[in-house]
This record gives sequence, structure tokens and C-alpha cells, in this order.
Amino acid sequence: MSLSLEHTLQQRLAERRALNRYRVRPVVQSPQQAEIQVDGRQLIGFCSNDYLGLANHPKVLEAFQKAAERYGVGSGASHLVCGHSQEHHLLEEELAQFTGRPRALLFSTGYMANLGAVTALIGRGDAVFEDRLNHASLLDAGLLSGARFQRFRHNDIDHLRQQLQACDSRHKMILVDGVFSMDGDLAPCPTSRVWRKSLMPG
Ligand SMILES: Cc1ncc(COP(=O)(O)O)c(C=O)c1O
Repeated sequence: MSLSLEHTLQQRLAERRALNRYRVRPVVQSPQQAEIQVDGRQLIGFCSNDYLGLANHPKVLEAFQKAAERYGVGSGASHLVCGHSQEHHLLEEELAQFTGRPRALLFSTGYMANLGAVTALIGRGDAVFEDRLNHASLLDAGLLSGARFQRFRHNDIDHLRQQLQACDSRHKMILVDGVFSMDGDLAPCPTSRVWRKSLMPG
């Protein structure tokens, strides 16, 4: 690393620290569950994505143990090469059946799912419109797609309408989170209303 790059990086780190934006990772010493041990302290966890409590479910653990004995750990390669095991395949088929869709495709993270889906659907010559408060994975997906990228004010349909009317791209894609992850509010679209009903009946 050149001395000037080292200097710039140190300067950026110092700026982050001064603004209280220097991130450190809490060290978790227990399984994901309602009460977790973090840096030696027993705490109630409100920030995990393990909404269904499956990460430490005895049946899931048992299935993992059996699969590790049979297949080992690690897929060995990408799914398109030789990493798509029978277990992945059966899970995709079961998920498709469960959700009533013709096919399901598994990704290793939500971030990758958003990147994969958006870049498969749109590209150069198209346009993408995103809510300002979308999750970073949707924003990155829109940027990576190569489509013309525009953001509209949070949940502001009039602002979105203006942008759509002013745009003459071949295909236009609107991307919003169903439930906005930082504020917990919903996008004004039918899927969100279905969510709202199941989350807050009545
Ligand atoms: C709304 C939303 N989309 C996408 C993601 C990305 O998921 P992952 O952390 O599995 O990459 C998150 C992550 O927390 C999220 O809250």
C-alpha cells in the first residue's frame, strides 16, 4: 500500500471515530434466541432476523447434523458448477410447493437475492425507481443493473408518478421494500396490505 493511501485511510478512520460512526462488531457467545450472550453479558435480543426462531430449533439442528454427516459441510462450488446438492434441490421444490409457485430459487443471503433478481429482470436501456428508504441491497441492485436509476421520496406516490411520466425508457421497474427495515412502516401496495393483515389483524 502506498504511503499516501495509508495516510488517507487513517484519516478516514479518524473522521469516522470523531463522528461516532466507527463500527465494531458485538461478539455473540450464544445461539440466536430471545436471550443472547453478547461480550459476556446476558441480553434480550431485539435486532436479529431470526423472526421464526428456527436458528436454534432442535429439529433444524438435528437435520443439519444428519446432513453434515452425509454431505459434509460446504457446497464445494457455485450451484451452476457442482454445488447444487440434492438437499438444495429438494428444498427448492418444497418451497415452490409451499408458496404455490412453479419454481423457487435459493440464495445464500437476502442481499444476494435482491441483486440476483433485479439484475436478471432489468438492465441498460431500462429505468428503475426506488423509494429513498429502500434497504441498501435494493439500492445496490438497482445501481448494478445498469438501468437509469432514480429515487423518490419515501412512500410518496405523487413524486413517483412524476418521475414515471418524465421517463421514456423501454422498461420501468419500481422497487420498494414491503416492510421498511429501519422504520417498520409499509409501502402503499397490495402485498404490504396482505402483510399488514397478517401482522396486525383487525
Ligand atoms: C428489508 C431487507 N432487505 C434485505 C436484507 C438483506 O438480507 P441479508 O442480511 O440476508 O443479506 C435485509 C437485511 O437485514 C433487510 O432488512
